Formats: sequence, structure tokens, C-alpha cells
Amino acid sequence: MSENTTDTIRAIVDTIRNTQDISLEQLSAILDTDDREAIDYLQAQAREVAQSIYGNAVYMRGLIEFSNYCRNNCRYCGIRRDNRLAERYRLDDDTILECCRLGYSCGLRTFVLQGGEDGHYTDERMVALVQRIRTEFPDCAITLSLGERSRDSYQRLFDAGANRYLLRHETADPDHYAHLHPAEMSWEHRMQCLRDLRDIGYQVGAGFMVGSPGQTHATLLKDLHFIRDFRPEMCGIGPFIAAQHTPFAHEPNGSVEQTLRLLSLIRLLHPHVLLPATTALGTLNAFGRERGIQAGANVVMPNLSPTENRPKYSIYDGKICLGDDISHCRSCLETRIASVGYRMVVDRGDYKS
Ligand code: 5AD
Ligand code: FES
Repeated sequence: MSENTTDTIRAIVDTIRNTQDISLEQLSAILDTDDREAIDYLQAQAREVAQSIYGNAVYMRGLIEFSNYCRNNCRYCGIRRDNRLAERYRLDDDTILECCRLGYSCGLRTFVLQGGEDGHYTDERMVALVQRIRTEFPDCAITLSLGERSRDSYQRLFDAGANRYLLRHETADPDHYAHLHPAEMSWEHRMQCLRDLRDIGYQVGAGFMVGSPGQTHATLLKDLHFIRDFRPEMCGIGPFIAAQHTPFAHEPNGSVEQTLRLLSLIRLLHPHVLLPATTALGTLNAFGRERGIQAGANVVMPNLSPTENRPKYSIYDGKICLGDDISHCRSCLETRIASVGYRMVVDRGDYKS
């Protein structure tokens, strides 16, 4: 039980909102409190900020997980290179286009192509794929999530018609980064990729997991300051969920409650950010995504991948919606979002500056 009173925490929330700044003491007060009323106030403030910019719209992004081959060995991730038990797959271009068509017919206007860092997808192949999607869906946003590539590669994909790029920074603390990743991966390089993407003109998505092994309030503070200062157009945060056959398989899962508080804080520190209520949040709690919206999130990302491939894209255990086709998830999400007073819109859902 923290000694802060409801009023103290409300005052902290007001200060964070007004100054768009947060200290370690303020962060700890918010993460440590079990004062429900104070947390309700935090969430109400975050909703108010989101509504002042985006109204009660929630945007959809169709996620196409097109390859689970990965050259990397992130310690938390179920499709890391060394997981020999992960059954690998790649979708061909025609299958990916078919996913886009299905998504379009369900009202999706953003396609997120996400994959492991798979050498099969050379620049030539990816450029050709992006051009095909761009030609067939001129009114849609194309988001890429392909990990770290060269600046030249990012440029070529942008020139081919991609608009957005998701590359979670994972943690803004270099030592924590080294705890989550093997030595061959570099925090500096990841940050350089984010700057390159921004310079090229992408709408950029950063983000991190909540409750990953070794995370502290001090590392989270760095994440919040990074988000506030870099001002990515999108920020994906979800709880860490242990994945079998990984070094972190027996680590405890992150907390839904802490994730919700951090969503609200991000909304207060960077009011315009597009903030998904992630599938990981929905995986740990049956109402996780609704609660995410109520905490200030304004994006959902239904899965457009063919259902037979979905179980293989198992970055963490227990992922939801594995067998549910997009039209089912679309109406499911519509109902869920309406249940908390928001409306899912057919829109690219671009960043509002
Ligand atoms: N639990 C939660 N999120 C994870 N990610 C990867 N593995 C896990 C896990 N075990 C997140 C990473 C990555 C994004 C695609 O998914 O943050 O950037
Ligand atoms: Fe997929 Fe509800 S969103 S079943």
C-alpha cells in the first residue's frame, strides 16, 4: 500500500498532463498505488486527451504475418532463430494480396505486413510486393514491420509506396536492451533505424513490452521520456507474455494493470500518438482491449493472416483469435468497442498532427 492519497495522485496526473513531463517519483507513485479512484482519474484524463484529438473513433489495422523465419535471437520471442521447434512458413505474394482483398472487403484501410527478419524478402521482392499492394489499394496505408534493414532499403520501400513502419524500440535503456537481446544485436543500431525511418518520411511506430525480465521503473521512465521526445506517430505496448522454448519461458508474465497505466501515461505525455490496444493485452485479459481503449488507446489490430498459419506465428503463448476469420474478428471488435462507448471506423487512421 503506498502512502499517497487519492488527491496526491490526482495532482500528479494533472501535473503530468499539463507539463507533458514525468519524474521517477511520479511514475512510481502511479505504478505502485492500489487506489482505484486515482487510477480511474488517470484513465479519464487519458481518454479526454485522446477524444480531444481523435473523438471517439477507433482505427483498425489488418495484420498480415507473412513470414516467421527470423535471423534474430531475441530472448523473449517464440520465433527466435534458435527455436528449432517453431514450424516455419512464408506466404507468397498472391496469398498476401488475397489477405488484403479480404481485409478491404471488411473495411480495413491499413495493411500491416509483419514478419521476422527473413533474408528471403530481399529489397527486390519487398519492393515488388509493396508496389502491387499500392497499385491495387491506392486508398490504403501500407505499414511495414520487417525489423532492422539498411537506410537504403527503407528508402526503396518508401519509394515503392509504403507509408508507415513499426519497429518497437523494445527498451530505451541500453543495459536492459542487452538483457533482452543477444550480444550481436545493438541498441544503438535500433535507434539509428528509427531515426532513418523518420528522416525518410515514414510515420514511425516505436514501442515496448511491459513487465519484460529486468524491467524496472527506471527503465520504464526512459521509455516514457523516449516516447515523449522522439514523438513516434505510433506506439505499440503490450504485456510481456512468456513464450515456450525461449530463454524467458519461465519468467512471469507482465501485468495487464501496469500496461493500462502506462498506456494512459503515454497518452498524457504524447497526446497525438496512435496507440493500439494490443492483442497481447487481449490475450492476458478477456476484456484487455476494451480496457486499453478506456485507458486512452485508439487502435486495434485484427489478424488478417490465413488461419492455418496463425498458430505458427507464436511470438508468445496463448495468443487469441487463432481460428477466427477476419469478418468474425471485425464484428467482434466492433461490438467490444461499442460496449465502451467508442466506434470503429473505416478509415486509414493517419496521425493527426
Ligand atoms: N511477449 C509479448 N510481446 C512480445 N513481442 C515479442 N515477443 C513477445 C512476448 N514474448 C513483441 C515485441 C516485438 C513485437 C512484434 O512483439 O515487442 O517487437
Ligand atoms: Fe478475434 Fe474477437 S477479435 S474473436
